[in-house]
Amino acid sequence: MGVSRGGFSSRFGFIMAAAGSAVGLGNIWGFPTQTASNGGAAFVLVYLVLAFCLAYPAFMAELLIGRYGQANAVSSMQKIARNTWQKRFGFVVGFGGIICAALILSFYSIIAGWMMSYAIEPLARLAGFAGAADWLINHSLIRNILFTAFFMGLTIFIIRRGVEEGIEKWSKRLMPMLIGLLILLIIYVFTLDGAREGFNAYLNPDISRVFEPDLLISALGQAFFSLSLGTSVMIIYGSYIAKKENLVTLGAQVTLIDVSIAFLAGLLIIPAMYVAQAQGVAIFAEDGSLISGSNLVFTVLPALFSGMGDVGLFVAFGFFVLMSIAALTSSISMLEGPVSYVVERHDTPREKATTFIGLGILVLSILIVINLEWMLDFVATLSTQYGQPIIAMLCCVFAGWVWHRSDILSEIKQGNEHVEHSLFWKIWPWYTKFVCPTAIGLVFWHSL
Ligand code: PHE
Repeated sequence: MGVSRGGFSSRFGFIMAAAGSAVGLGNIWGFPTQTASNGGAAFVLVYLVLAFCLAYPAFMAELLIGRYGQANAVSSMQKIARNTWQKRFGFVVGFGGIICAALILSFYSIIAGWMMSYAIEPLARLAGFAGAADWLINHSLIRNILFTAFFMGLTIFIIRRGVEEGIEKWSKRLMPMLIGLLILLIIYVFTLDGAREGFNAYLNPDISRVFEPDLLISALGQAFFSLSLGTSVMIIYGSYIAKKENLVTLGAQVTLIDVSIAFLAGLLIIPAMYVAQAQGVAIFAEDGSLISGSNLVFTVLPALFSGMGDVGLFVAFGFFVLMSIAALTSSISMLEGPVSYVVERHDTPREKATTFIGLGILVLSILIVINLEWMLDFVATLSTQYGQPIIAMLCCVFAGWVWHRSDILSEIKQGNEHVEHSLFWKIWPWYTKFVCPTAIGLVFWHSL
């Protein structure tokens, strides 16, 4: 770990930061919404299998590339390359990931801004400012711009402080808060009428749906988004891990936390939907399909909270604070990708690079806010449905075909001396070489 570029000071710090990146709106909003629209428990089952069988190996490839390179995504990839063509390939994959992270941040910060305004609304109502409270949950242009800028400001504030004082310190504070809040909310929702029915829908799979192509595609996309793959983020976080750490275990722990929190979020949201239904809020459209994703969080849940009377204000506050925290620990990782690149490749001070890039992305966010109807969907689709799978696939190709097997082994052996005889080393190399790129490619092709 180069002293000048910083690094995580502890194993716990890395786990909180990487899990912080992985756990975000994708887990707490995306996963339950997808579960509800894709046959409940069947989706959960497929997601769990794909997360461990496809996303985890790809995640390991990114972490390993980063720890080997000890540098930003582009330099790390190029360090592995041995000729000009491989170096160019490395550049395309590394830089592509950085652009992808910046694009995701540009729309993610808008949605995170909504979460923050919805978190402040109950406070305004409690304080008796009904007008301000209404303004906070009205989707006006000014409100959207202000809260997007506010959220981006927080992201910039943390990243300017660097790895240990910024990313690690804040992830260690925010992640335990997030887990605590999530558990409290689940316990509360479980005491309400209708929760049991939701619990059943969530946990009893309809096995006949497990092999539906659309379900498989959604589950794989969700798993890749959730582990922040194909965005250079895990390469750069990998580069901040000390050589003495056991990467195989660390990667598995982060995957486990990510999947568990998605699972817990489902345990909160799906029963909450049924509670809302028991209170007369419409959650399914007339044809039996789920009312769309954004309605779920911004219409159905607030309706549920307001049905609870004064307690509902506190629950609403807790829920949207939870969402905002989850979003913030993810957004900092997205900004770190481009920042580390500019700092290391263009010899720019971190503070300056962070402010400059953060503001640049904010300009793009404002453009999206102004053209919300078409641009939000466009940028989200471009970056998450095209960018992420393509780049994640190329990362696996790079690790599997460009990087020498013996060099990979000597990298993993640091911190894990006996890895050569482990199940991981028996499976992972050929898995990354053949199975991951083929499976990702097939699913991607099918989704087109
Ligand atoms: N994994 C985050 C989530 O689930 C989103 C994310 C994507 C973070 C890409 C970083 C990079 O919300």
